[in-house]
Amino acid sequence: MAERIEVLLTEEEIDKRIQEIGNQISQDYAGKQVHLVCVLKGGSFFMCELAKRITVPVSIDFMSVSSYGGDTESSGVVRIVKDLDEPLADRHVIVIEDIVDSGRTLSYLLDMLRSRGPLDVRLCTLLDKPDRRVVDVKVDYTGFEIPDEFVVGYGLDYDQKYRNLPYIGMVKFD
Ligand code: IMP
Ligand code: MG
Repeated sequence: MAERIEVLLTEEEIDKRIQEIGNQISQDYAGKQVHLVCVLKGGSFFMCELAKRITVPVSIDFMSVSSYGGDTESSGVVRIVKDLDEPLADRHVIVIEDIVDSGRTLSYLLDMLRSRGPLDVRLCTLLDKPDRRVVDVKVDYTGFEIPDEFVVGYGLDYDQKYRNLPYIGMVKFD
């Protein structure tokens, strides 16, 4: 079945919001260094754009997790597919995610990262679907709260497609 993509957030809106978050993080971490932990693959587009707009010193690392479950539903049982290259001790960590949906993946991941001795761990997500939350997760920086729609673009995929769209679109089947 062919799907149709309907624009939800334009590239301009996203750029503007990322600049605002970059400013906020630069202020909040004034005089410190931040260590951005990108959750692959979806968080990568957002992290690159955000990192360029942060004015305090930045280091980056990547992690890939897979949560057992169907294509559009996560189970909360998370397997580390690729771990971080560097330890987190004595770092101000900001986890960069594409979207927080049920919160299951993030809740597990944040607990695991906090156990590695960082100074602190905050969460920054481009998108948040609060209506879908099953597990409580504290989000420190949110790009946009969106309705309960399946979205793609800016790193987010449907069946590994559409990650490269420069905007966020809703997937429609009709
Ligand atoms: P959670 O554990 O349910 O919060 O799952 C979060 C993960 O599910 C995200 O990092 C995405 O990989 C995926 N996901 C959730 N909602 C969407 C969506 O609307 N489009 C694409 N991927 C999504
Ligand atoms: Mg993700």
